[in-house]
Amino acid sequence: MQKLSTFDLTPGMVLAEDVLNFDRQTILSKGTELTDVLISRIELNGVLSVYIEEPDIPSKESVHEGYGPAPAKVREDVPPPPPGTHLEFAPSKPTYSERIRDSKEFKDFKRSFDQATESFSFQLNQMVENNAVVNSEEMLSEPLKLIERAGSGSNAFDMIHNMRDYDDLTYAHSMNVALLNYVSASWLDWSEEDKKLAMLCGMLHDIGKLQVSHAILTKPGKLDPIEYKHIQKHPIFGYKSLSDKGLDEHVLNTALMHHERNDGSGYPLQLTGDAIDRFARLTAISDVYEAMTAARVYRGPLCPFRVIEIFEEEGFEKYDPEFILTFLTNVGATYVRNACVLNDGREGEIIMLNKEKLSRPVVQCGYDYVNLMERPDLFIAELL
Ligand SMILES: [Fe+2]
Ligand SMILES: [Fe+2]
Repeated sequence: MQKLSTFDLTPGMVLAEDVLNFDRQTILSKGTELTDVLISRIELNGVLSVYIEEPDIPSKESVHEGYGPAPAKVREDVPPPPPGTHLEFAPSKPTYSERIRDSKEFKDFKRSFDQATESFSFQLNQMVENNAVVNSEEMLSEPLKLIERAGSGSNAFDMIHNMRDYDDLTYAHSMNVALLNYVSASWLDWSEEDKKLAMLCGMLHDIGKLQVSHAILTKPGKLDPIEYKHIQKHPIFGYKSLSDKGLDEHVLNTALMHHERNDGSGYPLQLTGDAIDRFARLTAISDVYEAMTAARVYRGPLCPFRVIEIFEEEGFEKYDPEFILTFLTNVGATYVRNACVLNDGREGEIIMLNKEKLSRPVVQCGYDYVNLMERPDLFIAELL
């Protein structure tokens, strides 16, 4: 048995242990033989290393433990990927995400993001340590400036999508979820007041994690049942710690219910549908989106169409149908007219989304219109 970085996996290897996602759910079982599709699935779930039954694979130093970001690494030892695999490793020109990250606009955004996150962590600690009442206006002032800077629509989304270089478990994650909530609420045409409230809900949704031991939060690999039960208490810890702070009840409900799922498969109360606060239903989507894309630092964020695909694979019934459809449609729409590369190497332009399968739009390659819905062998490997 050997532990390997996800990037060093190749088809044909056999899993020696179950592979778990960010929520410690099994996504692939021990004994499974890997294929390209399954390797993509492991990557898409943000898993950085797995155990395989494959001796003598010389890449030990590249193994990174756990779910946090891994350091950047050079892959001189690896030949070019065969057709059907990700192309992100060997781009000769800057990728879409590298170009965004290099832009002045993004650098300004990131600087403000750092400031906002710092002041947020200070406010949060004040609140937890001194039992201080939350000043919602003050807490929202920095993130609102960020949104103002980026605009509330697709541009802001693109900035947030590319904001992927934090290993912080709670503060930067919560800030990202807050910004995603604001953008998502804008896409749903919520009132300005509700958009701000959604932002506050995102900022405070995981406050209960401050009461979960750091060792458990950062433990690589499988949690034992007791540890898992403990981590699942963070919504209740959060609800309790927010309950006497003069906050809107939606903020408390979001802390309590953001892991509930529409079909009753969530925790801690197994609520269904409308019994889940609408701000918690909105936050659930931002939270999962954030967590799915979080471990991508070493090669930039995932292609958004890959992220949409994971949501499609997992099934929309876990989420509010209107919220998830609006969110993913707008994520996709952000990149219509964007240049891209297909996995067969052809460059093209995304020209139209397929409503029934948002991860598989129509791409124009020269005079050819490639409807990805009718071509299961093809996918968007990279945005340009
Ligand atoms: Fe949470
Ligand atoms: Fe979260």
